[in-house]
Amino acid sequence: MTGSILNLIESYPCGKREYLIPILQAVQERQGYLSKEVITAIGRHLDLPASKIYGVATFYNQFRFKPLGKYHITICRGTACHVKGSGSVLNSLTRSLGIRPGDTTNDGLFSLEVVACIGACGLAPVMVVNDQFHAGISPESVESIIAAYRGLEPNGEPLAGAEG
Ligand code: FES
Repeated sequence: MTGSILNLIESYPCGKREYLIPILQAVQERQGYLSKEVITAIGRHLDLPASKIYGVATFYNQFRFKPLGKYHITICRGTACHVKGSGSVLNSLTRSLGIRPGDTTNDGLFSLEVVACIGACGLAPVMVVNDQFHAGISPESVESIIAAYRGLEPNGEPLAGAEG
């Protein structure tokens, strides 16, 4: 944890538990996720046990406890995408990656996030990997997409559908 994160935490009033969510939001915005050290430092500052902070933070789906993966996957669960089967696409993604939304794979390659409408309803169901949109996805096609990203890695599986 950097000194600037500690300064950020300490810029909130000491011992005032009502600042827990604003502090968590501010730190995540700065650092991208909430590390163990950060949780401990917030606990010290607000006089709260770490277990209580984890309990609150996991209740709100917006918080992450690991850095984003190299490939950050955002899947839309808005109405248009839902109607076109984004629920089964999400199941396929969690199965292929072995993680739940809000988590990052142990190799640091993929992280998964569920969002409401991302403004591309005509492409439903849609997911975004970093800045790349994938439209009209299905449970099967996302597996190929994941395999293709793995194939970009030096020790990854070959690109799906790639020849030679
Ligand atoms: S509902 Fe998915 S992009 Fe709008």
